[in-house]
Amino acid sequence: MSTLISTIGLLVTNDPAVGEGTAELRDAAVVIDNGAIVWVGPSAQAPAADERIDVDGACVIPGFVDSHSHLMFAGDRADEFEYRMAGRPYTAGGIRRTVGLTRSASDEQLRANAQHVRAEMRAQGTTTLEIKSGYGLTVDDEARSLRLAREITPETTYLGAHVVPAEFADDTAGYVALVTGAMLDAAAPHARWIDVFCETGAFDVDQARAILEAGAARGLGARMHAGQLGESAGVQLAVELGAASVDHCTFLSDADVAALGSGDTVATLLPGVEFSTRQPYPDARRLLEAGATVALATDCNPGSSFTSSMAFCIAVAVRDMRMTPAEALWAATAGGARALRRDDVGVVRVGARADLVVLDAPSYVHLAYRPGVPLVRQVLSRD
Ligand code: NIG
Ligand code: FE
Repeated sequence: MSTLISTIGLLVTNDPAVGEGTAELRDAAVVIDNGAIVWVGPSAQAPAADERIDVDGACVIPGFVDSHSHLMFAGDRADEFEYRMAGRPYTAGGIRRTVGLTRSASDEQLRANAQHVRAEMRAQGTTTLEIKSGYGLTVDDEARSLRLAREITPETTYLGAHVVPAEFADDTAGYVALVTGAMLDAAAPHARWIDVFCETGAFDVDQARAILEAGAARGLGARMHAGQLGESAGVQLAVELGAASVDHCTFLSDADVAALGSGDTVATLLPGVEFSTRQPYPDARRLLEAGATVALATDCNPGSSFTSSMAFCIAVAVRDMRMTPAEALWAATAGGARALRRDDVGVVRVGARADLVVLDAPSYVHLAYRPGVPLVRQVLSRD
């Protein structure tokens, strides 16, 4: 059945055939059919359809593409957040607390928690979502996390290399052998991507290379966590290996920025992390001026960033990361799609998925101008 969405005051298409960046159309209409966009153009020329939704001048945007989340977890770490707000620093070690709780949880508990957060995301306009494992860190627990994540999204990422678990504290090499061996064998059937946390306190650059190359040999695309706690050789490794994205990028050297500006690897910024850890925000303008492709994502996880709101990330990026509202919206939609190497989402064009968000506002600028306000009036999504 076809649906005409008409009287759109401002339509963000992100379609390069329409224009640069957000490629906006005024007084527009869209027709969707069978989960796909079949027509885009001026409202006055819209064809008839089986049903019609008048949005009365509202702004319509592509659904958000949240390209970085860790939804397969149990428990929360609100106490750590409280301590950090009182002055304690964030450390990667907190991950091990969630590992313990996740291992003890049943499939039903993990599924229910992930579905709950997934529903929060959807209500806030997220229509494409990536989910990582990384709180299991045994062969069975990583495979289980990915199997359950696959029930929610095809964009699943094997993150056995999140941190070295306590039982391997004196044998990092043995853990890397497991991550690239039996654990990879168990994870690969349920994963599209492989990721590694390349940072002091997690994995070094040689280990990261071995892990991403082992994943590539099994057909998994590379992603990377790097530059969260300090500068990391991981950023340039990610570009060298052609990773789809390097995520965090809070601390970058000039050479890192130059590499991101010249390669195909997206720089994914995660403002919820800096908000929740009181670290300095990454400088998106520096990356944009170097020609890098920037994405925004929530990094939704119970330790460093327990937000499910892409609108919140946009508001912070505009307020504190030197992005314009248009750049931030593009990064949260088309940028996320690039980070997942997808061309069927994050864009409003004929043939793309019918993932659209009707805002309760005349312009997407309101996403930053009215922070914390629920501005999503309606979510239309293929799934
Ligand atoms: O992306 N950086 C590593 N992993 C997560 C943090 C997870 C946690 O603290 O539980 C992140 O920030
Ligand atoms: Fe993360």
